[in-house]
Amino acid sequence: MPSPASTLIEVAERFGTPTYVTDVAELRRCADQVRRAFPDPWLRQYSLKANDVPAIVGEIAACGFGANVVSRGEWALAAEARLSNDRITLEGVGKSDADLEAAVTAAQKGAPLRWVSIESVDELAALKRIAVEAGVLSAAAIDVLFRVNPGVEPETTAGLAVGHPSSKFGMTADELAEAIGALGTNGPLRLIGLHLHVGSQLAAVNAWQAAVRYALDLFAQWQPRVATLTRLDVGGGFPSGVPGAPEPADFARAFDQAINDVPRDRRPTVMAIEPGRFLTATAGSIVSRVLHVRTGRLKTGEPLVVIDAGMTELIRPALYGARHPIVALTSMGRPVAPDGLERDTAVEGPVCESTDRFGRHRLPRLQRGDLVAILETGAYASSMSSRYNGRPRPPEVLLEPDGRLRLGRPRGHAGIWQQA
Ligand code: LLP
Repeated sequence: MPSPASTLIEVAERFGTPTYVTDVAELRRCADQVRRAFPDPWLRQYSLKANDVPAIVGEIAACGFGANVVSRGEWALAAEARLSNDRITLEGVGKSDADLEAAVTAAQKGAPLRWVSIESVDELAALKRIAVEAGVLSAAAIDVLFRVNPGVEPETTAGLAVGHPSSKFGMTADELAEAIGALGTNGPLRLIGLHLHVGSQLAAVNAWQAAVRYALDLFAQWQPRVATLTRLDVGGGFPSGVPGAPEPADFARAFDQAINDVPRDRRPTVMAIEPGRFLTATAGSIVSRVLHVRTGRLKTGEPLVVIDAGMTELIRPALYGARHPIVALTSMGRPVAPDGLERDTAVEGPVCESTDRFGRHRLPRLQRGDLVAILETGAYASSMSSRYNGRPRPPEVLLEPDGRLRLGRPRGHAGIWQQA
């Protein structure tokens, strides 16, 4: 637990519960680890979908990261974190006309995105049409990558595997050829690279490396015919909280092995990664209060505790069967002393759904009002939160390295669409 228990208790007293807490020192440690594994000239694009709170995005940007966004909403949050368009890339499996129009408008204003990653021949046609209709006449005004489907079997749970051949993500080799044909010459779009993403929480580097080899091979095939092709974006997926899983440096080594097998004059010259989870997961905790305790209800005799954080704040257990550690901050009204009196306790959320549960955890005796922390919740918790059951979104509190607590977002904040 990066944040000390006493700090988390202070968070509960000052900001109420449930509350998201992010340890800035831990964010920086993780960002530094990625930067050391993928130093310049690698482009490091932080995937905002993991956590889009501008104060957190800003911290990561200050550690040498650009931003990878999937919508105008995430783009606006990156801009709120003071990232300029030339550090932002737009991808996403379903971009609306409004998303594509925004990319075109930015280019017209002389502030184009770093690139837009295109998912299909049809999406390419839409972006081209929108650019031409908007009167983008200058050739190559908008840089694009074509996303390829690497057709691998990622070492992760089914819900997080996107690089397998039957997924909706990315183009086949035939579609890529068709898209390159459809691009034409002297149009408003310029193809500068290929993009792939294998999946999330990758428990091994093998499928990822196979995907990189596949993309390098396609790159080498096309590069002699498409002079502007210089980049390869290998996506995200570095795991967090998976025992024995590879580290960012292991992925970097796997990449080096793959590229060393490609003739020098056929290699991409600019490489990018877009990690999300690895940067934020371990820095985040949810502070939550016990609402009620039942004993003798379960056949096992173990207590069942209902807390005030649930699937609305952390949907990963309900959606993917994910398990997040839970620790007690207080027991029977007093700060917890590790006294060995822990027992299996079923921890459940307050939402009217039977999947709103966090599993069994070793916890001391708890009563109404006690505080617990759900750990490793910095990624895909707040960004996937909902208002179900009329629940306001929790506040976001940042723990600064000097120990100060900073409110990043108040309770009930509706994100970037508040004024819409
Ligand atoms: N790039 C692309 C194209 C992606 O689709 C994703 C994640 C990333 C990068 C960042 O992946 P990461 O480094 O965070 O693994 N909600 C799920 C995770 C969904 C990931 C979606 N795409 C979860 O809670 O585990």
